[in-house]
Amino acid sequence: MKEKYDYKVTAAGRINIIGEHIDYCGGKVMPAAISLKNTVYVRPNGTNKINLSWTTLPDSVSLDIDKLESYKDLKYGNYQAGAALMWQRAGHKIVGCDMLQDCTVPFGSGLSSSAAIEVSTIAALATIASEKIDPVDIALKAQQAEREYAGVNCGIMDQYASACGKKDKVMLLDCNTLDCEYLPMRLGDYSLVITNCNKPHNLIESKYNERRAETEEALKLIQQKLDIDCLANLTLKQFKSFSSGLPRILKKRVEHVVSECERVRVATLALKAGNMEMLGGLLNKSHASLRDNFEVTGREPDALVAAAQSQPCCLGSRLIGGGFGGCTISLVKTNCVDEFKEFVYKSYLQATGYKANFYEAEISDGITVELL
Ligand code: GLA
Repeated sequence: MKEKYDYKVTAAGRINIIGEHIDYCGGKVMPAAISLKNTVYVRPNGTNKINLSWTTLPDSVSLDIDKLESYKDLKYGNYQAGAALMWQRAGHKIVGCDMLQDCTVPFGSGLSSSAAIEVSTIAALATIASEKIDPVDIALKAQQAEREYAGVNCGIMDQYASACGKKDKVMLLDCNTLDCEYLPMRLGDYSLVITNCNKPHNLIESKYNERRAETEEALKLIQQKLDIDCLANLTLKQFKSFSSGLPRILKKRVEHVVSECERVRVATLALKAGNMEMLGGLLNKSHASLRDNFEVTGREPDALVAAAQSQPCCLGSRLIGGGFGGCTISLVKTNCVDEFKEFVYKSYLQATGYKANFYEAEISDGITVELL
């Protein structure tokens, strides 16, 4: 980088050990921030523009601070504009600046590149305005940008993990209260392998918003009989006694939510006890539920997970993130990781014609700010 910037601000991509499609139902989820991240190099420029450039793209874009609502259709720069607009609407001063963006989270991979961009952009704006960084507040404004600007009616998991993650720690985030417990990421002789099925996916075009709407419809029906404020508070017993009254599809969706909440509870115990067999089994069950009840997987992710699960050195594997493509995580015996990758690559290519790829990532901090 030839030019001089004042600060280097980063926010992380994330994986999710377990707790999928339950954040917007008030459930507990278990994400972790990873070392694939978005970095923003920033300096004030004395204008009323945010000038964006990228290390990996030839494009550059200039956002007028007084017209931030008008950039929704940009191919690149829309997430930054949405994040800046929500920050501005919350009453913060936006300082004109140059931002060089460097994103190592692969786009559309289910590793939350959009959250990393939104969170780091807001953190950079707050930094050059000499504001104190409040990661939870930034996460909430970034979520608002994803929902109101990018049009994905997402939960809080991605932005929270991107902002508040801690090195070597898994987060147990209660999405109803935003209480977060940090657990040590102790996997013993096992490692988590992140694999991209490389089937392009897009949460807006996918059925993400439709699934969320289905859970909301189911909640309304259940609330006619039971006093609960979110689906995650429905017990298995209550589900069994009320489910026959629900339309077939909604019943399947609720079954996923209730059973996934239970799996997160047990996975917490498994992680604390270092019981990797138990954790792996829960990953497999989570995938089966996402496939059969929530119906957010698809041919390619299913083939990738099946290849991984067929290996004795793999205790469990599942699709992570919004679904319909993107990445899986697999819990694999550390000394078998190379053979595992080789087998999965070949077998998945044969089954689907797509080439999988694997990411090396550590569990890392969320927002970081460095004075250059
Ligand atoms: C996407 C959303 C999250 C969450 C996951 C599914 O990543 O942004 O809020 O709903 O899907 O668990």
